[in-house]
Amino acid sequence: AFAQVSVTVEANKPGAVINKNVYGQFAEHLGSGIYGGLWVGPASKIPNTRGWRNDVVGALKDLHVPLVRWPGGCFADEYHWKDGIGPRNKRPVKVNTNWGGVEESNAVGTHEFFDLVEMLGADAYVNGNLGTGSAQETSEWIEYMTSDSKSTLAEMRRKNGHPKPFKVAYFAVGNEAWGCGGNMKPEYYADLYKQYNTFMKAPREVRPKIIASGGNDHDTRWTDVLSRELKGRTDGISFHYYTLPTGNWKVKGAATGFDESQWMSTLERTLRMEKFIQDNVAILDKNDPDKKIGFYVDEWGTWYDVEKGTNAGFLFQQNTLRDAVVAAMNFNIFHGHAERVRMTNIGQMVNVLQAMIITDKDKMLLTPTYHAYKMYVPFQDATSLPVNVANDTPYTFGSSSIPGISASAARGKDGKLYVALVNTNPRQATDVTLNVTGQNVSSVQGQVLTADAMDAHNTFQQTQAVKPAPFSARAADGKLTVRVPAKAVVVVSVAG
Ligand code: AHR
Repeated sequence: AFAQVSVTVEANKPGAVINKNVYGQFAEHLGSGIYGGLWVGPASKIPNTRGWRNDVVGALKDLHVPLVRWPGGCFADEYHWKDGIGPRNKRPVKVNTNWGGVEESNAVGTHEFFDLVEMLGADAYVNGNLGTGSAQETSEWIEYMTSDSKSTLAEMRRKNGHPKPFKVAYFAVGNEAWGCGGNMKPEYYADLYKQYNTFMKAPREVRPKIIASGGNDHDTRWTDVLSRELKGRTDGISFHYYTLPTGNWKVKGAATGFDESQWMSTLERTLRMEKFIQDNVAILDKNDPDKKIGFYVDEWGTWYDVEKGTNAGFLFQQNTLRDAVVAAMNFNIFHGHAERVRMTNIGQMVNVLQAMIITDKDKMLLTPTYHAYKMYVPFQDATSLPVNVANDTPYTFGSSSIPGISASAARGKDGKLYVALVNTNPRQATDVTLNVTGQNVSSVQGQVLTADAMDAHNTFQQTQAVKPAPFSARAADGKLTVRVPAKAVVVVSVAG
């Protein structure tokens, strides 16, 4: 017998809009996240548009990527923007000290990045350099990107090929200031932020939203100090949390070939995101009752041991059905906090950590995480709806127990009602009775993502091993039951 669960969507109680930027991406100068994975240069034999791979850009377009964060991460605090403008063959070569000590050619700079986001139809989130930069360097970068004047910097941008100002939607002052961004205390960072922010003088109409770099994991002090100190000076405070199967940075756990105990520990650790958001939002509600400040989870995702034989600094890992389940569970959590969580950026877009796409020279594959993102596209800018899960049968393994079903719902921009269901149990299907307040439910239609093995994944030999399949169900005797397979993600639209 299957577990029986009842899910009720309160369609009559619309909540906050799920900002499409909750589905944002992160592309750092790290491993082959940019060089090789996205950028091959205009002279490459790999088909490209002004240097950007056509296959990868095409697949990302299908994901409706709303926002890309660049150039880091830790890399951002050692990045000097003037190294990345002008003729590419004249740009200085640097060492990427954070990520593998490899050479950084600076072939991808400000103009190339904006070319990518313009092709994707995405917004730009530029992460500034607080660690080794200066207030002057930052204010000049903002002027270079946003000024429509005849200033020398704006003229330099025109000479370098972009007559109109770039649209910088978001700009962050540093990254992980508590760690790779400078090992600071939040109070010290807050003072530096104010100094930098004072000199970011973009014209009002094109002023980016400014992000303060916040805390991570269970630490809420950064959110507390920054929301008090930076009132009226910040649009959002960022937050990072990565899921490690073991919770141990030395031996994190493998991306494939894991056992059920690591399936469980990974999902259990993923669910901590809920409490982390709740705790930080409670602080924001106290310090910022007008809700001016967003809580941006601008780095999250799974972080495993790197694949054997790869550069440890490149953070390259396979991506399995487990990753898709982790992504979907996080989406369901984010939807529940749509009011404050107005942006998130998974780490990272291509070839790094929990990637959408993996490449090898001219080959490319879509990961299970890619498919989860694609299935959830209707939630971008949809209106969140409360969901009650009743009679849940918890998924239990060893001494651990987590909810068996993770769910969320929203009214899409197209007017349709969307429901997402995740079965966390890798061994047993669950029958979900779906109710919608004030509405009859006659059928559901959408997609399911599942596979036989917990670590099922796509390879260059088998690129279609894990991919979504059509999914539908009809009501019988006035009751609609959705059978969610074991270890599966289901996204459906509901017909009345
Ligand atoms: O995403 C990889 C790294 O993780 C980022 O550069 C850094 O911000 C975080 O520690």
